[in-house]
Amino acid sequence: MARDEAGKCCVIGTGYVGLVTGACLADLGHSAICVDKDKEKIEQLKKVKIPIFEVGLEEIVRKNLKKGTLEFSTDIEDAVRRSEFIFITVPTPSDSSGNADLTQVDDVARTIARAINEYKVVINKSTVPVGSTKRVERIIQEQLSEPHEFDVVSNPEFLREGTAVSDFMKPSRIVIGADSQKAIMKMTRLYDKIDAPLLITDPVSAEMIKYASNAFLATKVSFINAIANVCEAVGADVREVALGMGYDERIGFEFLRPGPGFGGSCFPKDCRALLSMAEAHGYNFYLLEGVLKVNEEQQRKIVEKVERLLGGTVQGKKIGILGLAFKANTDDVRESPAIFIVRMLLEKGARLSAYDPKAVANARKELEGVDFAESPYEAVKDAEALALLTEWDEFKWLDYARINKQMKGNVIVDARNCLDPAVIRKIGFVYEGVGR
Ligand code: UDX
Repeated sequence: MARDEAGKCCVIGTGYVGLVTGACLADLGHSAICVDKDKEKIEQLKKVKIPIFEVGLEEIVRKNLKKGTLEFSTDIEDAVRRSEFIFITVPTPSDSSGNADLTQVDDVARTIARAINEYKVVINKSTVPVGSTKRVERIIQEQLSEPHEFDVVSNPEFLREGTAVSDFMKPSRIVIGADSQKAIMKMTRLYDKIDAPLLITDPVSAEMIKYASNAFLATKVSFINAIANVCEAVGADVREVALGMGYDERIGFEFLRPGPGFGGSCFPKDCRALLSMAEAHGYNFYLLEGVLKVNEEQQRKIVEKVERLLGGTVQGKKIGILGLAFKANTDDVRESPAIFIVRMLLEKGARLSAYDPKAVANARKELEGVDFAESPYEAVKDAEALALLTEWDEFKWLDYARINKQMKGNVIVDARNCLDPAVIRKIGFVYEGVGR
C-alpha cells in the first residue's frame, strides 16, 4: 500500500469494536468488509439496522455503504482473500476463573490460515492476554496449507462506548505492537490520516498497554469510591475532594467520579484477566484484587443505603429505579452496577419498577420480576424510594416536585451524585448521594 492509497481491510467480528473499526476505516477512505458468522446480524447491518446505540455510527455506516467503501458479509474466507489488513475483533469473554477465553480468536486464526492467498497483516484488536499475538501467528503458521507471507500485529483499541466513533477518529494514541518492519510501515500508512501520537513497540508490550490502561482507570474509580466511603464517615464531600485532587496534573480530573462502581464490557473483565494472568506467572496482584473488591462492595453499599433509609428492610416495598445501563449514553447493560443492584434488591424482596432511556430492551434479557416503565415518572409512581443508578442527563432535569407528589415515600438514593442535595431536600426528600 503506497502513501495515500486506500487500504483493503476486513474486520472479523461485528461487535462494538468491530463495527466501529470497520465503519471508521471506511470513513477514513479505506475499503472495509465487516464480517460476522451471525447471518441475521449481517442482514440487518446491510439495511443499516445497527444493533447498538452509538453516537454517529449509523450515519457513517449509511454513508459508506452507499459509497461502496463499506460492506457486510458472512463469508470470512472471501473477505480475507480480498483484503490486505485483517482485523480480529471477536469477543474474548471471561471464563469461570477470570481468564480470557480465546476460543473465537483461535477459530478466526484457523479460518484466516485457510484463506490466505498473498501477504496479509493480521491485526489483533480484541483485548487478548499477553502472548496472544504470538499465539495467533503460531496457529496461522501451523494451519497454512501452502507457504504465504503474513505478519501478526497487536493494535489495541481504547474506544469508550458512547464516544467510540470520535475515540477512533481522534484517539489519545495509536499503539502498534509488531516485530516486522513491513507490517509497521503498512499500519502506519493505514492510520496516516489520524492525528495522534504513534507508539510502536513489541507485541507483548502493546498487549500489556491495554490491560494496564484499563486496570489503572478502574483503580482510579475504585480509589475514589473508597475515598467517598471515608468522606461519608468523616463528613467530607468527595466531590470537593476529587476537585482538589484533580488540579494536580499528575492526578488529573478524569475518572474520579464516585458512584455504584465500574461496569461495562471491559473494566471488570480486563481486571479479572490481568489478575489471573499475573497469578499464572506467580505474582500476587493484591492491589488489583482490592480494586475489584471495592467495586463489588460499592454496589452492596447502594443497596444498604436504600435499606437503611427505608427503615431497615426493602421487603415488599416498591422502589423506582432510574437507569439500567452501565453508564450514560449507551444501551449496554453488561456488568452494569445497576443490574447487580436491581438483582440484590429483588433478592431482598423489593418490588421494582425501572426506567432507562435506552437500555430497557437489553435489561429485559437480564432481569426477571421487574416492571419496566415507559417514563421516569411512571417508574417512581407510588414508590417508597427512588434509586438513581445511571447518570443520564435527563434524570438531572426531571420535575422532582412532581415526583415527590407521585411517590408514596420520600427517599432518594442518588448513586451517581447527579442531583443537588439542597434543592432535593427542600422539596421534601430524604436524600443520600455517594460520599457527600
Ligand atoms: C473503557 C475504557 O475507557 C476504554 O478505553 C476501553 O477501550 C474500554 O473500556 P467503557 O467501558 O466504554 O470504556 O467505559 P468508561 O467510560 O471507561 O467507564 C467504565 C466504567 O467506569 C463505567 O461503569 C463508568 O460509570 C465507571 N466510571 C468511570 C465511574 O464510576 N467513575 C468515573 O469517574 C469514570
